[in-house]
Amino acid sequence: MIIGICSDHAGVDYKARLFAFLKKKGYTVIDYGTDTPESVDYPDFAHQLARAIESGQVETGVALCGTGNGMAITLNHHPSIRAGLAWNKDIGRLIKEHNHANVLVLPARFISYRTALKTLNAWLEARPEGGRHERRVSKIPVSTH
Ligand code: RB5
Repeated sequence: MIIGICSDHAGVDYKARLFAFLKKKGYTVIDYGTDTPESVDYPDFAHQLARAIESGQVETGVALCGTGNGMAITLNHHPSIRAGLAWNKDIGRLIKEHNHANVLVLPARFISYRTALKTLNAWLEARPEGGRHERRVSKIPVSTH
């Protein structure tokens, strides 16, 4: 699986560590920045990751900023993106099982690196559930209702 990853300055340290972790696990990972702790604007990176998923360059993504909300709000403006904000392993699992999240968003300033790792692993291992969850996810796009 090819995974895209991005962050702003608030998430750059965790991003570098998660990038190395994912590579070690055998994933192909593409890093869409940022690369330094210098202050940047999270939408510039969120849009890059979303476009990479839309174009098929990567299949799925991980995004980090301070609260996670800037990344999640921006990513979810793209119709094919379902970005879920998760701050523990149970929510990491549920955003995949129930919401079919194709991007995991982590609030880097509010969770430990260990929790970020556990959340990422739970999200990676989870599978989207069908039935009522599939029906609900199918109702998310504005054009279908
Ligand atoms: C950056 O200071 C911070 O605003 C950003 O990382 C994020 O929390 C925005 O949603």
